[in-house]
Amino acid sequence: MNGDLERLVLSGEQIQQKVKEAAAWLDERFAKADTPPLAICVLRGSVFFFCDLVRTMQTPVQLDFMTVSSYGGSTQSSGAPEIVADLSASVQGRDVILVEDIVDSGHTLVRMRELIEGRGARSFTAVTLFDKPSRRQVSVKADFSCFEVGDEFIVGYGLDYDQQYRNLPYVGVLKREIYEKKN
Ligand code: PRP
Repeated sequence: MNGDLERLVLSGEQIQQKVKEAAAWLDERFAKADTPPLAICVLRGSVFFFCDLVRTMQTPVQLDFMTVSSYGGSTQSSGAPEIVADLSASVQGRDVILVEDIVDSGHTLVRMRELIEGRGARSFTAVTLFDKPSRRQVSVKADFSCFEVGDEFIVGYGLDYDQQYRNLPYVGVLKREIYEKKN
């Protein structure tokens, strides 16, 4: 385990088991779709979850990417997620599957839902790897959440602290001394 972590929360195997459940849930939900849903990866945090999820799904999907940022180098949400890079595809009339790594304050998910529904999507389904309900500032819930976590600073499998630790193949709690040095 990486030496900056206090403890392991999920192994790669535990994550992959849940990815299978999330993919099966989506396959069932879109079994009768007449056109392929558009799966949107909210970069950067959801990159690995997104890749594993869409590769596990049986349903044909199209892929698009959006870069959204609200934390910068801080551990607190700015409350106003910034769209750093927008989608390439139109969501007009599409079934959209938004893939997030974590729903924390909830601002990003609310913003994404407003944006995508405002652009005329036919349906909006949000899937998240992690849900941190204790940190919610706005009332919102993903349609499918893989793991509920407490108010601990977790990194790995896409989740970062100051752009580090994303490529760890597991998820763990970051030692407090690492982020208290800066904040
Ligand atoms: C993180 C995470 C979610 C969002 C959730 O993104 O990936 O998109 O914050 O937080 P919220 O519920 O409080 O809005 P971040 O802005 O850190 O960018 P990143 O994906 O590049 O890490």
